[in-house]
This record gives sequence, structure tokens and C-alpha cells, in this order.
Amino acid sequence: MGCIVRGRGLYKEYPGGVLAVKGVDLEARPGKTALMGPNGSGKTTTLSMLAGALKPSRGEVEVCGLNLWGREWLEARRKIGFAPQDMPFRDKLTGRENLVWHGLLRGLSLGEASRRARRLGEELGMSSYLDRRVATYSGGMRRRLSIAAALMGEPEVLILDEPTSGLDPGAREELWGLIESRLRDLTIVFSTHLGEEAERHADIVYLFSRGRVAAWGRPGELIERYAPRPRIVLYLQEDAEPLEIDGMRPQVLGPGVVSYTVDDPGMGMRAAIDAYTLRGVAVERVEVRRPSLEEVFLAVARGG
Ligand SMILES: Nc1ncnc2c1ncn2[C@@H]1O[C@H](COP(=O)(O)OP(=O)(O)OP(=O)(O)O)[C@@H](O)[C@H]1O
Ligand SMILES: [Mg+2]
Repeated sequence: MGCIVRGRGLYKEYPGGVLAVKGVDLEARPGKTALMGPNGSGKTTTLSMLAGALKPSRGEVEVCGLNLWGREWLEARRKIGFAPQDMPFRDKLTGRENLVWHGLLRGLSLGEASRRARRLGEELGMSSYLDRRVATYSGGMRRRLSIAAALMGEPEVLILDEPTSGLDPGAREELWGLIESRLRDLTIVFSTHLGEEAERHADIVYLFSRGRVAAWGRPGELIERYAPRPRIVLYLQEDAEPLEIDGMRPQVLGPGVVSYTVDDPGMGMRAAIDAYTLRGVAVERVEVRRPSLEEVFLAVARGG
């Protein structure tokens, strides 16, 4: 079962004076929490502080009610599994040997480490290649091995830094399927720079911008609160002249493809179809484009 992870007033200044994280508060509960933001916005730094891999310059981290940098640090650390962006593996060893090695580092006996490696290999669908050398692994296999290594200590909290970066869409879906079917009880905190991924797979999203949390909430709430209005897109004959309709300016997306920002997609669609039909222009298809988390992110980042 997962437990609650909290970061309070987190700051991180790297040697050389780079202030990478500037006062971040966040809370992750059982389920999936995403940190989303562009390159350099502080996701990895924050995740590393939550995982206990990097000491905050200021602020506190609490894991399952334990202070990660206080006297209970060892007990707190044991609750956490961390798969960094580039998990260090010994390429000449097999996947299984690497897992056992991670287990031994965690203080497990050889017998227990071997048992867990076998079980995780099965659970994560890695049995067919667990005894191959890691040097021969594909990106997707390495990602699974990272997650398995992070799970060797049977953590309650699993921290995944860009778990799907570099994976093709099929491998990405497979990995999410796995996380959602096998690890649903844990508290999972992951980072991504893909709005679509955060929208589909996170219960709560923290939007990072320049070392701060610019906004947070459920994906649907964030979209409602910050996103631009919905748009309708009309597919017309290619030579159709774009029209201004009731003060709505057309945005031309391509030959015969025009979009309008609307308050009410239903009314907007009717008005647009009427206007074009009156001019003798056939409307072949109409789409409603709901605002996405990607757009929220751009709006929030622009608005500061
Ligand atoms: N070890 C370090 N020493 C100095 N500066 C660092 C170090 N690690 C990161 N930084 C800086 O801290 C800031 C935040 O970096 P961080 O890696 O946390 O961002 P990120 O959101 O994970 O980015 P990405 O999407 O590229 O992984 C950046 O300006 C980065 O250059
Ligand atoms: Mg990063």
C-alpha cells in the first residue's frame, strides 16, 4: 500500500549558485502524481529530493509520516523506490544479476534478493530476457529493469523520473499498462514533459515552471481553470473563403480547414454551418477540440 509523500518549502541551490528549485510545496497520495514541465524546470531536482537522493538546501520531505532528513531517515528511505532518468546498471551482468545486486545494496540476503528478482521479473513480464546481459537490452527493457530495481526494496512510494522518455508509442503504452495493472496500490510520483501523458495517466498534476509550481490539480480541473476556450474546426471545400461569423475570427489551419474559438461548441457549430451553407460552401466535417493540458501549460507558463 502506498502512503503520503510531502515536500514543504523545498529549495535547491546547486554548487555554483544555480537555484534550481525555489520554494516547492507538493503532496502525493496513493495513485499517480505527475510533475510536468519543460526542460530545466526542476522536475529531476524535486524528484531527487523527494527520493532522498539529494539533500534540499531548505525545506522538508515527509514520507509515510517520517522525516526524510531527520532521525527517522533510514526508515523513511526504506519506504521509497527510485528509478532515476538513467539508472546505473552493470551492462556486463544479466538483468537478474543486476536486480540481485540492487537487493544486496538494500541489505537483503542473497536468498531473499534472488526470490524478489525472480518474482519481479515475472510480474513485470521480463522472464524471457532476465538472464540476458543488460548490454543487449532495448530502451523498453531497460526501463522495466529500472522499475524492477526500484521495487526490490518493496517500497510504498515509487518515484520515476521520465519513465517513458525515449520509448516509442507502443512501448510507452505497454509500460503504462504494466504500471496501471501491477502497481496501482503504490504512491507513484513521475515526471514527464508530455501533456498528453500527464492528462491520461496522472490523478494529480503539478505544473513546473522555472523551479516553481505554477499550478496544480486534477487534469480536468486544471483544464477548466486555465485553458483557453474550446475550438471548433471546419473542413470545407479547399477553395472556400474563410468567413468571420458573429465576430468570431477564422483561424486558417490549412486549405479548406478553418478553426474558431467559441464559448459554446454546439451554438458555434450551428452558426458556422449556417454561415457557410448560406454562401453555398459545403461543410464536409466539423470537429470540436477540447482544450488540453498541453495548452494549459502554455497558458500558465506565458502568464507567469
Ligand atoms: N548537478 C547540477 N549542478 C548544477 N546545476 C544543475 C545540476 N542539475 C541540474 N541543474 C540545473 O538545475 C535546473 C533544473 O534542472 P532539472 O534537471 O531539475 O530540470 P528538469 O525539469 O528535470 O529538466 P529535464 O526535463 O531536462 O530533465 C536547470 O537549470 C539545470 O541546469
Ligand atoms: Mg529531468
